[in-house]
Amino acid sequence: MTAAADTQTRPFAEARKDAQDLVTAHMELRLAGNDALHAAMRYAITGGKMLRGFLVLESARLHGVPQDAAIEAALAIECIHAYSLVHDDLPCMDDDDLRRGQPTVHKKWDEAMAVLAGDSLQTFAFELLASPKVGAHALTLIRGLAQSSGKYGMVSGQMLDIAAESAAEPLNLEQITKLQSRKTGCLIEWSATAGAVLAGDDPAPLRQYARALGLAFQIADDILDVEGDAAKVGKAVRKDADAGKATFVSLLGLAEAKARAQSLCEDACAALSPYGDDAATLKEAARFVIARDS
Ligand code: IPE
Ligand code: IPE
Ligand code: MG
Ligand code: MG
Ligand code: MG
Repeated sequence: MTAAADTQTRPFAEARKDAQDLVTAHMELRLAGNDALHAAMRYAITGGKMLRGFLVLESARLHGVPQDAAIEAALAIECIHAYSLVHDDLPCMDDDDLRRGQPTVHKKWDEAMAVLAGDSLQTFAFELLASPKVGAHALTLIRGLAQSSGKYGMVSGQMLDIAAESAAEPLNLEQITKLQSRKTGCLIEWSATAGAVLAGDDPAPLRQYARALGLAFQIADDILDVEGDAAKVGKAVRKDADAGKATFVSLLGLAEAKARAQSLCEDACAALSPYGDDAATLKEAARFVIARDS
C-alpha cells in the first residue's frame, strides 16, 4: 500500500526538520548492521541539514508524488551527498578533521574506512533508487543521479576544485561558476527536480530554481568559511583562502559575493512562479540557504 501524497504547504523549518527526522529514522533501519562498515555509513549519514532530502520531498509534494516513492529518492541523494563529504574531508582532498560537529570518518576510524564507507554509500544510493517503490520513472532518476554525481557532475566539480588550488592563474568568473555548479549545483538540481521527474511532469521550472539555488548555496558555504563560527557550522572555518580554493569570495570579495547570493535567491524564487503560492516552502528554503549560519 502506498502512502497518500502530502498536499499541505508548511513552513520551511518544519518541513526541513521532518525531512531530517524521516531520513535519519529510515537510515537507522536501512543501514542496520553490526559491522564497522555499516557503523561508519550510519555515522556519515547522520547530523546534516538534509536540505537535499528536503528538496526531494518538497518537490514530490508539489507534484503529488506519494511519499513512499519520494523517500527512496530522498535517502539516495543523502547517501550520495554523505559519500561526497566523507571523501571531500580525506587528507588527499580538503584534509578536514571535523564534520557535522563530529570527527570526520577517517579520524574516527581510518582512511581505508572512509574510502570504503563512501564507496558503499554511493552504491547503496543506486540500490535504493532501483526499488520497485520508485515506480515508472526510476530509470530517469538513476541515469540523472549517475550524471549529476560523476564525471559530468559532482566528481568533475571536485576535480576542478582541487586543480584550482595549484592553478598558475586565478580562475575567472566563468570558470568558478562551472566548478561550483558541478561540485554542488548538480546534486541540488537532481534533488529539486526529482519530484517532477517522479511524476513524469516537466522539471524545467524546478531546474531553473535549483540552478540559482545551487550557486547561492555554495556562495553561502564559502562566506561561512570566512565569517562562520566553527562550533555552529560543525566544520573547520577559515581554511579556503590558505588552501588556495577558487570561490566567489576569493574572486569578488565578501560584499559582492553576498550581493550575488541575494540576487541568485531572487532568481530562484522567480523561477517558481508557475507554482504560485504552493511554492512558498521552496522560496523560504532559498532565503534560508543564503541566511544560514550552519
Ligand atoms: C556541505 O553541504 C557541502 C557543500 C556542498 C557546500 P551541506 O551544508 O548541505 O552539509 P550538511 O549536509 O548540512 O552537513
Ligand atoms: C564540497 O565543497 C562539495 C562537495 C562536493 C562535497 P566544500 O569542500 O567547500 O565543502 P565543505 O566546506 O568541506 O563542507
Ligand atoms: Mg572541497
Ligand atoms: Mg571541504
Ligand atoms: Mg566549503
